[in-house]
Amino acid sequence: MSDALSYSTCPIKIVRGHRTEKKPRMASQKAEDYPNEDVMVLNREKGTSVLAHLFGATLISWKYRGVENIFLSTKAVFDKKKAIRGGIPLVFPNFGPWSLGPQHGFARIKLWAVEQQPSVDGNGDVTAVLSLTDDDETRAMWNHKFKLLYTIILKEDSLTTKLAVHNNNEKDSFDFTCLFHTYFRLSNVSNTAISGLKGITFSDKIEGDKEDKETHEEISVDKNYDRVYRNVPGVVKITKCPISDRQMEVSFSNLPDVVLWNPWDEKAKVMSDFDDLEYLRMVCVEGGSVSTPNKLSCGECFECQQVLKPSFSPFDI
Ligand code: BG6
Repeated sequence: MSDALSYSTCPIKIVRGHRTEKKPRMASQKAEDYPNEDVMVLNREKGTSVLAHLFGATLISWKYRGVENIFLSTKAVFDKKKAIRGGIPLVFPNFGPWSLGPQHGFARIKLWAVEQQPSVDGNGDVTAVLSLTDDDETRAMWNHKFKLLYTIILKEDSLTTKLAVHNNNEKDSFDFTCLFHTYFRLSNVSNTAISGLKGITFSDKIEGDKEDKETHEEISVDKNYDRVYRNVPGVVKITKCPISDRQMEVSFSNLPDVVLWNPWDEKAKVMSDFDDLEYLRMVCVEGGSVSTPNKLSCGECFECQQVLKPSFSPFDI
């Protein structure tokens, strides 16, 4: 396959005293372009692997039979301050603009810990767990004790991401929203259709949160989309994702809402960490629990998950 999206990288070696550090000059989906301590690799052999960056627990690559499924902007910034543009950033404890802190909350801009290193079971499936616990910085924005556990399960034919939210307060409950902000890689958004949303009510952020009902069996993303579909009952399918002969099935548990987002040309131009034409190469289909905040009592745990399943292609390795 000719792959215009396999980003060339040119690691710079920075020599400080006796230490040699590798620093990616631009966004890379290869583990070797990052310092070992910044990333985690789940390798299922036969060209199937995951690369997760500990900053934001952002899953920045998922290859299935040698083909990359995840979009990562060539202009994504890896300064451990700004959210990574692309991959699967985690939105918590707030979806969208937030009066207490940054847009989409702090989970995507915190350094996560490795709770469980990747381990392989008898089927060859690989599981790893990352975690995030409250600290002075999170409590200054949102004064709650919590622990997030993010489980990544790489199977031969699917990728499952699970989020568990624990309320560790002594007595208070807290409210939160959460979402997997998945950027799917496409060869061209104009050839892609999104199905599984017909008949579903959505609020359109482009139209000032106007309510509408989806009438299309297949949605063609041909402009700036920013919609929150509520109470999506089943699987959402993305055709020609990431390549023409493959389709992606996206299913969710305990995540009733689906956000469909593409910035399109004008908004792409004003995003400093997104190349002007990259809107053609991605679509975000984001499973979340965002339209009604979740209330979690102290000592309780909320769990949700997303499963991504690509169809098999005769060209797969
Ligand atoms: C989507 C929102 O989930 O994320 C959009 O619905 C937003 O409104 C987009 O523009 C990207 O957000 P950010 O903060 O990563 O630029």
